[in-house]
Amino acid sequence: MNEKNIIVGLDVGTTKVCTIVGLQHPNQELEIIGIGTHPSYGLKKGSVVNIDKTVRSIQASLEEARLMAGVNIVGATIGIAGSHIYSFNSSGVVAIKGKEITQDDVDRVLEAARAVVIPSDRDILHVIPQEFRVDNTTGIKNPIGMCGVRLEAHVHIVTGSIPLIQNLVKCVEQTGIEAEHITLQPLASSEAVLSYEEKELGVVLVDIGGGTTDIAVWKDGSLIHSQIIPIGGNHFTNDLAVALKIPHNEAERIKINHGSVLAEQLNQSAHITVQGLSGTKPCEVQLSVVAEVLGARAEELFDVVRYMVEEKKLHDQIAGGFVLTGGGALIKGLPELGEYILMRSCKIGYPIPFGGMTNIMQNPKYSTVLGLLIEASKRKPYTPTQNQSSNNHRVMFNSKDKDSNHSNTDLIGKLSESLKSVFKEIF
Ligand SMILES: Nc1ncnc2c1ncn2[C@@H]1O[C@H](COP(=O)(O)OP(=O)(O)OP(=O)(O)O)[C@@H](O)[C@H]1O
Ligand SMILES: [Mg+2]
Repeated sequence: MNEKNIIVGLDVGTTKVCTIVGLQHPNQELEIIGIGTHPSYGLKKGSVVNIDKTVRSIQASLEEARLMAGVNIVGATIGIAGSHIYSFNSSGVVAIKGKEITQDDVDRVLEAARAVVIPSDRDILHVIPQEFRVDNTTGIKNPIGMCGVRLEAHVHIVTGSIPLIQNLVKCVEQTGIEAEHITLQPLASSEAVLSYEEKELGVVLVDIGGGTTDIAVWKDGSLIHSQIIPIGGNHFTNDLAVALKIPHNEAERIKINHGSVLAEQLNQSAHITVQGLSGTKPCEVQLSVVAEVLGARAEELFDVVRYMVEEKKLHDQIAGGFVLTGGGALIKGLPELGEYILMRSCKIGYPIPFGGMTNIMQNPKYSTVLGLLIEASKRKPYTPTQNQSSNNHRVMFNSKDKDSNHSNTDLIGKLSESLKSVFKEIF
């Protein structure tokens, strides 16, 4: 096996760390050859709060995937979320130098679009082109080769807190592998779950994880809004634990096996036996009480999503409705309640299958890591030669990359710079 054609997606989530190893075939087909999942103990609401525990979880997940794939892992594309992520739209304009627009003009206009003032403790993670305008022509995805005098770029910029990005990169690199790229998690989940048509028509991806709910709004094939909401599946579990005065693991079991956010979907009078806190006796709980607790949290979450849609004036842009993914989307009744509150179609988004994907992987909780793998494969096409350059598995960074000062801040700078090559893939 040519290990140069091995690519890896690594999702460091609040509840689990998941590694997927893929093999790129000569026909560019991607095959999953290794999977490793391990519970995550060092994160809270998507951000690292304990370095040692996070490193151990990543190590365990990498080891499992490494054993299954039978290959060495040297680097991975990693996902990022957390409430420190903030994104906004921006634009830039440049005069066209020659008669035809070149890659250099596109680079310049993207540079102009990203020239916005951001706080010194934040860094730009992504600058994602939405559309280009050449003179009076709008809606252009790739302006190279077109003629004009004025080139305008509209972009979506994603920023994150430098210390929190550094913590994640540090945890990954302490396991001995390289964090080759950092990708916003809902962007990766979109890649795994949404169809081309949905992105064109307008759709809201809602990835309900353990600690956060990550949003990506697409229209005309472009990302027009992204947001991280600090509410996830764990909040549903905590609510149950507090309301029923039961241990967290018992609350998790009830949520998964008996929970629903709609009391109407349940046999109203049915009861279940729950284990109390240590030293207390098991007791009987009515299922409708469980649904009431979970339903209140779901309503809160959908209210935040609805507020976002209103605030960003997205209502007319999302004819494709809402696609719920992430492990938290599996709580029964969520799509129905979502449809009622959001007044748009709402469905569960499962990862679209590709080579080697098993039934187990076709679970919404693997959307992010599968998307990370797909993104990594797009950046690293199949390499047939044996004498390939030693840094072929790294994306081409631009001028900043030539700086050999490898501080973490520089790494983040490089990662953000790499987006030009990354997002050419989107179009
Ligand atoms: N079958 C199920 N029914 C209900 N909830 C489920 C089910 N399976 C998983 N969950 C919930 O999904 C959540 C974890 O989802 P996921 O694995 O997508 O999160 P994560 O990626 O680790 O976290 P995050 O993305 O927030 O960092 C947990 O709260 C878990 O209870
Ligand atoms: Mg996740």
